[in-house]
Amino acid sequence: MTRASQALWFPYAQMQGLEVQNEVARAEGTRLFLRDGRVLIDAIASWWCVIHGYNHPELNAALRAQLENFAHVMLGGLTHQAAQRLADRLVALAPPGLAHVFFADSGSVGMEVAMKMAVQYWKNLGVAGKHAFLSLRHGYHGDTTGVMSLGDPDEGMHHPFAGYLPRQHFVAPPEGMGDGRGEIRRSVDEAVSLLATALREHGHEIAAFACEPLMQAAGGFHFYPPAYLAEARRLCDERDVLLICDEVATGFGRTGTLFACEPAGITPDIMVLGKGLSAGYLGMSATLATERVFAAFLGEDRDKAFMHGPTFMGNALACSVALASIDVFERDGCLAKIRRIEAILREELLGLRGPKIREPRVLGACGVVEVHDRRDLQGVQEFASARGVWLRPFDRVVYTMPAYVMDAADLRRVCQTIRDWFDRS
Ligand SMILES: Cc1ncc(COP(=O)(O)O)c(C=O)c1O
Repeated sequence: MTRASQALWFPYAQMQGLEVQNEVARAEGTRLFLRDGRVLIDAIASWWCVIHGYNHPELNAALRAQLENFAHVMLGGLTHQAAQRLADRLVALAPPGLAHVFFADSGSVGMEVAMKMAVQYWKNLGVAGKHAFLSLRHGYHGDTTGVMSLGDPDEGMHHPFAGYLPRQHFVAPPEGMGDGRGEIRRSVDEAVSLLATALREHGHEIAAFACEPLMQAAGGFHFYPPAYLAEARRLCDERDVLLICDEVATGFGRTGTLFACEPAGITPDIMVLGKGLSAGYLGMSATLATERVFAAFLGEDRDKAFMHGPTFMGNALACSVALASIDVFERDGCLAKIRRIEAILREELLGLRGPKIREPRVLGACGVVEVHDRRDLQGVQEFASARGVWLRPFDRVVYTMPAYVMDAADLRRVCQTIRDWFDRS
């Protein structure tokens, strides 16, 4: 076993006594090859971004080809083919009406961009006082300051920063009906009425309602039906509030359609993509806006211009790999692969019952088992690693979000490992 460098500070980890012994020497497809000779099936695709698997020959080739020309140039005053082509491609794929793309370098920053766009939109229109945001309980939109304030105020991971963060408004989503089987804890009607009330009472100060469409990921993997999103669109229009859909986790097929907004038949005013956008190769996000939002930034007045510009925005390597990833996604029929993954996850996980299990849930290429007590998941990571599977449960959920190239045998082995954990005592 190799020990991690003492200098390296790990994320979301109590560093005291921490020993990270899984040093990856090589990765290929869905396999992590560790320095000590062990091989793990990666069931979570490096926080869900490696959608086509590791070390993909075509993605590697796209990077090499771009590298021969240049790795990066600033987008301030310069432009390049890869950024232009990717922007056009995303507009063609996105829900109709999203017509402009602003690149940044991570999902968090992509969401910061969305928030700033929403605030400046109202300011540019001359509407005063719309600085606040409404978002869903159990949400997670990233770790930077602005977007932390949109995360779950009660159960979220950002407690240490309470008091420092801007205060936002929150509303509860529908609950307990992700796959239509579980107990309904809050119906769509009930949640829509809560949303209507929040917008009626606070709409005058709210710039935008921000949500993760259909699947709230890092806030605990809660799913909700498209009907809620459709109603949210209607209510936001009614109350002059923009709708931001954070598709950082859901975009590029994770919930079964290219974008999770699609089954609701809506176009958000602003949509944010990340993670799978660059297939796990490089940090990248895209914040897409409608013509209406974009138009509010036009004019003679320089103060109306959007005031944001990260150094690495539109990085040429990231744009090139994103273009290649979209090619692979389309050519390899990833949506059909996701349907096959979903069918297996349903078969393997939805029947799970037991005193420790609160609810198994499946949506697209995402399979989740939630327990009543987080202590019942202590040791899952080590248990799975010893069986050749890489899982990283958090809070009260153990889940799999595999690369779309995972074959049926490996996926069943991942599910079997989760089932074995609950069967072991
Ligand atoms: C829905 C959602 N939004 C934003 C983010 C933040 O993305 P990043 O980690 O790339 O900053 C995440 C990350 O998990 C996410 O799931």
